[in-house]
Amino acid sequence: MHPKKEVAWEAAQLVDDAKKEVAHEAAMMVSDGQVLGLGTGSTAHYFIQKLGDRIKEEEIELMGIPTSYQSFFLARDCGIPLTTLDEHLPDLAVDGADEVDPELNLIKGGGAAHTLEKIVDSAAGKFLVIVDESKQVKRLGDFPVPLEVIPAAYRPVTEWVKSAGGIPSLRMAQMKDGPVITDNNNFVVDVQFKEIHNPHELEIALNSIPGVVENGVFAGITDQALVATSNGVKSFKKG
Ligand code: 5RP
Repeated sequence: MHPKKEVAWEAAQLVDDAKKEVAHEAAMMVSDGQVLGLGTGSTAHYFIQKLGDRIKEEEIELMGIPTSYQSFFLARDCGIPLTTLDEHLPDLAVDGADEVDPELNLIKGGGAAHTLEKIVDSAAGKFLVIVDESKQVKRLGDFPVPLEVIPAAYRPVTEWVKSAGGIPSLRMAQMKDGPVITDNNNFVVDVQFKEIHNPHELEIALNSIPGVVENGVFAGITDQALVATSNGVKSFKKG
């Protein structure tokens, strides 16, 4: 392997190990009988797999509420019984994030699943976010804020965003021509803001644009964050 490629591969491997470590620690916090919100993304993936292992090895009884087709298929394959918000509210939701600030406000939606993630994570008795330390930031905003947008509203939404100082970009699919289509059949518009000074205000403002179904700012709903660092997993609780 080319030395540069090897360094990049080793770095990616370290991040992946960190995701696995924090996900496994979160899975060990789950108690017998709980209903769990199952997040989406690579960190949540490890959490779901570990829950499946615990069900098999410890014979504990759990139920999961998935936040995407991705977590639905994975949870089913891991033998986690599934339920819905109609039938149960989650005791605990565990999910990854793209950015976490010191007040535990988040940007999510790197996997375009933020609408259902926000519904499930908000409905949970406790919301635990699991990340590696690369996701910790002083202030949100380097990562663009994803908006789930009804396709017919694409043009007016992007005009609104530009007038508010954001730079919108339609998320394009891989291995499919054209835009990403969400689990709810909508577009994703990623919006780069210079700096986000007030996540709560921005979250409300973005959701007030006609045609925006949900945005990826999660202000004030995280109860606890587990962060995988080079010195082990650290816990941060809502202040
Ligand atoms: C999906 C999400 C993910 O939780 C977020 O993108 C983090 O993903 P990963 O754990 O793969 O870094 O919000 O919509």
